[in-house]
Order: sequence, then C-alpha cells, then structure tokens
Amino acid sequence: MIHKIAMDLVTVSEAAAVAGDKWVGRGDKIAADQAAVDAMRSAFHNLDIDGVVVIGEGEIDEAPMLYIGEEVGTKNGPAVDIAVDPLDGTTLTSKGMANAVVVMAVAKRGHLLHAPDMYMEKIAVGPKAAGHVDIDAPVAENIKNVAKALGKAVEDVVVICLDRPRHRDVIDATIKTGARLKLITDGDVAGAIATAIEGVEGDIMIGIGGAPEGVVTAAALRCLGGEMQARLAPRHDGETQRAHNMGIEDINKVFTTEELAKGDDLVFVATGVTGGYLLNGVRHVDNRVITHSLIASSRTNSYYFVERNHLITSKIEEEQQEWEIKKRDF
Ligand code: FBP
Repeated sequence: MIHKIAMDLVTVSEAAAVAGDKWVGRGDKIAADQAAVDAMRSAFHNLDIDGVVVIGEGEIDEAPMLYIGEEVGTKNGPAVDIAVDPLDGTTLTSKGMANAVVVMAVAKRGHLLHAPDMYMEKIAVGPKAAGHVDIDAPVAENIKNVAKALGKAVEDVVVICLDRPRHRDVIDATIKTGARLKLITDGDVAGAIATAIEGVEGDIMIGIGGAPEGVVTAAALRCLGGEMQARLAPRHDGETQRAHNMGIEDINKVFTTEELAKGDDLVFVATGVTGGYLLNGVRHVDNRVITHSLIASSRTNSYYFVERNHLITSKIEEEQQEWEIKKRDF
C-alpha cells in the first residue's frame, strides 16, 4: 500500500528541497533547516496518510514542528510511521557545499525504531556485500570480506567515513589495508546509500553519526537490498537514560537493518538540495524549478530517479520569500 503512494511522498521531499535551496550559501544553517521543515510540514497536510513522526526534529518541547509524535496527513489513508531529516547537511547547505539532501522514510505503524537523538555506531554496505560485514570485527577484516564479496582487490575498495577526529582509528586502519578512503564532511545518510547505488563510488561506510539518520539509512538500505548494523553510542548517563526511556533496554545491543526498519512495505525518498555524488541539486531554469529525487521501495526492491520540472505558479509568493531572506541580517 505505501509503495503505491511513493510519488506522493516525493512531493514532500521536493517541497523541502526547494525551500532549503533558498538558503544555499547564505551562512545560516538554522534558517535553512527551518525553511525545509516548514515546507515539509505544510506539504504533509495534503497527503492522504494517517502519519505519525517517529524520527523528526526532536521532542515536542524542543521542536515546534515535525516533533516526535506529531500527526501529519489528512488521516484518509494508511497508518504510517514517518522518519524525516528535512535537511541532512545543514552546514553543507549554509556553506554552499555539495551533498545536502532531504531524506524521508515511511513504513507501516510501529515498523521504525524510535531512536533517541544521540550518536550511533554504523556499518553499511550495498546488496552484494550484505551478509559479509560485522560491526564487531576489525576494520581490516570487514574491508577484506567486502572486497571478496564484490570480487575486487582490497586496494579497490572505497571506504566512506565522516571526517571526524573520533574516526582516527577507522581512517588509520583503512589506510593500512591499502583500500581507498572517501572522507565526507557531513551527510552520512547519502554516504551509506552510495554503497548501494550502481555507478556511485563507495563500497562500505563505517563510523559514528546521528542515530536518527541511522534509522532513515536503514530504511533506505532495506529498500535497496543493502545491510546496516548499528549500536547506540551514548556520551553520558543522561543519553543512556534517554535511550532506556524510549524503550531501548540494552544500550550495547547491535541492531540489524530489519530491527531498525521492519516490514515489507517501506518507502524511502531523497531529494537533492545541493548537487552531489547521489543527486543533483535544485536548479532554476526560467520560470521553472527542477528537482532530482531518489525513490526506493522494499516491496519491489527497486529504485528510480525522478527529475521533476515545477512551474512556479505563484510569483508573488516567491518574491515574498525572497524578500524575507533579504530582510535577515547576515
Ligand atoms: P547537519 O546537522 O549539518 O545536517 O549534519 C548532519 C550530519 O553530518 C549527519 O549526516 C551525521 O549523522 C551527523 O551530522 C554527524 O554528527 P557530527 O557532525 O556531530 O559528527
């Protein structure tokens, strides 16, 4: 059922991407995020779903919109859980850098892990290497096994990793094997998905990133036939307690892809804000805005890219928004 509304769902991520695009390179990541959130939330109102946000902008007291538990949609449709990151790459957007995307996963009610907003250890691979990685194995062993599964030399394996001091060990161990590194400054959802899309460079992603992003990534990899293993990485007792409060008893538990995003009817959509290795960014041609999105479904285990031309019908609204942007003090 959910896979049948995939094209409707993509209108939501397109709306967020077009709104976020207005803030590309303007040095204000909070405004960029807010614009994407506002647009996503109002686009949800038109959707015939009975949706609940399970991964969103935070708890109700810290996020006025798209907060965890917020109900979205007309209620005339399937009961679904929604995990959103209206802008994965707020810094990328504000600095006008590549690879900022809007991402969203939709599943049947109760089928997405309610993950707290904290760090998560992750290892992710595409379909050919699925079943050949182990989050507890040394980096070198995982790289060797991925090479074997892909029928490549270790030297040709590309390891994607967020460029952070906390990943020194992963980076050093990768270099030691002779494999190639692809360090990313932000955006580990797109980084992980790269391992599962033909023609995009990247064979395995390793490292610690956001837990909410981890659930969205797992949903994407379920649809794309890849694999993800993950474990929460709390930094203090308060975060451990938070995880317990959200129903996660064993803080050291390794979550499988299926435990992060369950069921046989998941849909993942992503729309590019700035162009990158996965998607083109939002482009403006005359009175049209062009968006580029990835749509994947676990029901069909398939994905496709959609480029849509949007005619700007409300010039006045456009101008008003432009003015709001200029009005801000940079
Ligand atoms: P933004 O908050 O700028 O959108 O950054 C997103 C991101 O890079 C995620 O993709 C990643 O999971 C997380 O931040 C990593 O967190 P940190 O920047 O604290 O290392």
